[in-house]
Amino acid sequence: MSNRFDQPGYNRDASIVNPKGQGEMTPGPQHGKARPAPGGPFLIGEAMTGGYGKGPDILHDCTISVDRGEIAVIVGPNGAGKSTAMKALFGMLNVRSGSVRLDGEDISDLSPQDRVQKGMGFVPQTNNIFTSMTVEENLEMGAFIRKDDISGTMEQVFELFPILKDKRDQAAGELSGGQRQQVAVGRALMTKPKVLMLDEPTAGVSPIVMDELFDRIIEVARTGLPVLMVEQNARQALAIADKGFVLVQGQNAHTGTGSELLADPEVRASFLGG
Ligand SMILES: Nc1ncnc2c1ncn2[C@@H]1O[C@H](COP(=O)(O)OP(=O)(O)OP(=O)(O)O)[C@@H](O)[C@H]1O
Ligand SMILES: [Mg+2]
Repeated sequence: MSNRFDQPGYNRDASIVNPKGQGEMTPGPQHGKARPAPGGPFLIGEAMTGGYGKGPDILHDCTISVDRGEIAVIVGPNGAGKSTAMKALFGMLNVRSGSVRLDGEDISDLSPQDRVQKGMGFVPQTNNIFTSMTVEENLEMGAFIRKDDISGTMEQVFELFPILKDKRDQAAGELSGGQRQQVAVGRALMTKPKVLMLDEPTAGVSPIVMDELFDRIIEVARTGLPVLMVEQNARQALAIADKGFVLVQGQNAHTGTGSELLADPEVRASFLGG
């Protein structure tokens, strides 16, 4: 399958990402050949073991990472712990052992709010927009940590998702599923994150809308912003992934480049429908 990363005409404008994140990116698809950041991947949850509150461990020695210039994808069956792994990276889980590092810094003890300050943009699987607020208010809420002028970033979000500009004064709850996901991604971009984490950005949308959302996500990644996403549409997601993680029962079952996993007979038989 051809990779849309390879196609010409992608957005080289890196202005939507935090300037600190720029300069390190190498243009073009990385496919696992990305130059690692000094001291390891840009974001890594390493050997994470933990669960919710005092409940049983859901993650067992689970390692997830994304590097600069990469799209990394987590796939696996329902209940495998994909969302739990994202929450662990974001500081919403009691990680009993293992660590989370962002740009070489150990952030394991930081609250989710502090991780946002450090540059993590997270779009959760559910309840990821304020339905009673307008599209524009949702984007403004996204920028809550910023004290500078946010209008330029909002314009960039509107350029990425033009429909949101048309509907800026409409309540987000009145939008279609695909449009809501655009609001959620846009909201996360408003912080000018250094890494974007998306939990099932294409959930519940049609194949055409899924393709469209993937194209926009690729466009964002091309600006140099590392993207880590969980995807139910495993085949399509691995096709655009530089790196893939197959999780099963809270453990790493397979890890490789997107194309390696797509070609792996065991992964194909177990997770990709043959
Ligand atoms: N808030 C919570 N409190 C306690 N247990 C939870 C909580 N959220 C999830 N779990 C449990 O953790 C396990 C993994 O769930 P998780 O939501 O991470 O799976 P997932 O891979 O994201 O699944 P899906 O594909 O359905 O989104 C499940 O057994 C689930 O019941
Ligand atoms: Mg989930």
